[in-house]
Amino acid sequence: MKIRKPKTTDKEQVMEILKQMSPEYMTDMLSELDRVTSNKFDGKHFGFVYEDGKDVIGYITCRENVATYQLETLAVHPSHQRKNIGSNLVNFLIQYLKYNGRFKVLNVNTEHGDYAEEFYIRSGFEISGVIKDEFIPGIEQVHLSYRL
Ligand SMILES: CC(C)(COP(=O)(O)OP(=O)(O)OC[C@H]1O[C@@H](n2cnc3c(N)ncnc32)[C@H](O)[C@@H]1OP(=O)(O)O)[C@@H](O)C(=O)NCCC(=O)NCCS
Repeated sequence: MKIRKPKTTDKEQVMEILKQMSPEYMTDMLSELDRVTSNKFDGKHFGFVYEDGKDVIGYITCRENVATYQLETLAVHPSHQRKNIGSNLVNFLIQYLKYNGRFKVLNVNTEHGDYAEEFYIRSGFEISGVIKDEFIPGIEQVHLSYRL
């Protein structure tokens, strides 16, 4: 197994992983997938996939947001969850940014109270705030940050 940059040929398997996400986010996630698998690296959006044999079973993306990094999408194939793959992808991104990045903060937003909040806290993130109705009316988003 290895963590590597995504390729155009990974798209189908990544889309399979993304099916579990809320449909409201799908349009943005698909254009992001196009961007991170494109050969034309724009310097601001990047990502990694977790490959097991020839299967892609995990996916993480990040973008530069003014003077911080924003972790945009993280997903592990449902039949491979709870095996530390998500933690490995987050740790890989953190190490990558520590050694290759120019900013000192990695931010992430997720649904407040969802298990992903606990997942990010376990990965070393700290809560910086909670915002009502940020992306979906009636849903609170928790903002967390990691000091690189
Ligand atoms: C969130 C996600 C990426 C975690 O990936 P994963 O590989 O399953 O997570 P890990 O095995 O690395 O979990 C590490 C810890 O996070 C917590 N955690 C992870 N999944 C959890 C769950 N379903 N319920 C409760 N705690 C959970 C646990 O503390 C876990 O440690 P443990 O298994 O020793 O108890 C994965 O569940 C996923 O793809 N979810 C759907 C998409 C999503 O919600 N993405 C994040 C928001 S953007």
